Amino acid sequence: MKFVVTGGAGFIGSRIVKSLLNQGDSVKVVDNLHTGKMENLDGIINEIEFVKADIRNFEEMKENIKDVDGIFHEAALTVVQESFTKQDEYNDVNVIGAENIFKIAQENNIKVVFASSSSIYGDATKIPIKENFPKNPINPYGITKLKDEILAEKYSKMNLDVIGLRYFNVFGIGQTGSYAGVITKFINRLKEQKQLQINGDGEQIRDFIFVDDIADANISAMKSKIKKGFFNIGTGLGTTIKHLADILIEISGEKISMIHKNPLEGDIKFSQADISLAEKSFNWKFQTSLNEGLKKIYPEF
Ligand SMILES: NC(=O)c1ccc[n+]([C@@H]2O[C@H](COP(=O)([O-])OP(=O)(O)OC[C@H]3O[C@@H](n4cnc5c(N)ncnc54)[C@H](O)[C@@H]3O)[C@@H](O)[C@H]2O)c1
Repeated sequence: MKFVVTGGAGFIGSRIVKSLLNQGDSVKVVDNLHTGKMENLDGIINEIEFVKADIRNFEEMKENIKDVDGIFHEAALTVVQESFTKQDEYNDVNVIGAENIFKIAQENNIKVVFASSSSIYGDATKIPIKENFPKNPINPYGITKLKDEILAEKYSKMNLDVIGLRYFNVFGIGQTGSYAGVITKFINRLKEQKQLQINGDGEQIRDFIFVDDIADANISAMKSKIKKGFFNIGTGLGTTIKHLADILIEISGEKISMIHKNPLEGDIKFSQADISLAEKSFNWKFQTSLNEGLKKIYPEF
């Protein structure tokens, strides 16, 4: 089968591209290289078609997205802090860009699987978070993702097959933006033999999922019979930031301690997915535990 991956030179998109190639599919990457890097496609560039193009440009997208079986839409601006100061740009790329993709897909009868985010839930009062929990994004980035879901619903009513995957905290080599959060910071500190700095009490809960499992979830959703809906993609397991620090210190083998700093303003307290809907619907389950994933990536930093 042939697929387009928007944002295919990015952290997650490039893993989707690699997994598709492993399954024998053909891939066209559409990316403007804003945060994406050609080096993410090292070793496979001769096996794919790469087009440098911007999802905000409807005509350019129309030209590039045809005669394919599906679109993985990953392209977006993803830096939460930046989304406060560049709200128009975030809206243009994340919302207008997404609508361009949905519109072209709808006109050409192409299935779309797109990257939504757990950030649409905001600060959940209960965990694990189910898909029908209230949506209260607390930053402009999260709002753009919620707007994408509303658009997806609109186009789904116009017969577009479109699935939104609400990724929780994705980790792996090559993370960018604000998602290159706590794991990247902790590993860098450990490599510099510096104390790990924990914001607040360290009891914040996160659901960390390895990037290869995110790629699998995308492909499972695309190749499933499911035509619409929004699905949490995480491990379903919560880890406190303090426990994450303990695991990484152990993996490093270093004698490094932790210090607590003031809590971060606007830091979400609990984020942990209920993933039963995705498991049931796409017959998908994550394969790599947090421990295994961290052991894999630690030496590569
Ligand atoms: N990493 C996470 O933990 C996480 C969590 C939830 C959701 N997401 C979503 O997953 C998707 C991929 O994120 P990522 O972590 O791989 O980030 P990334 O920055 O590595 O990838 C985004 C890609 O989109 C491209 N892009 C940006 N603007 C573009 C434009 N106007 N036209 C064409 N391409 C453009 C970038 O060059 C980059 O290759 C995003 O939609 C993001 O919002 C990521």
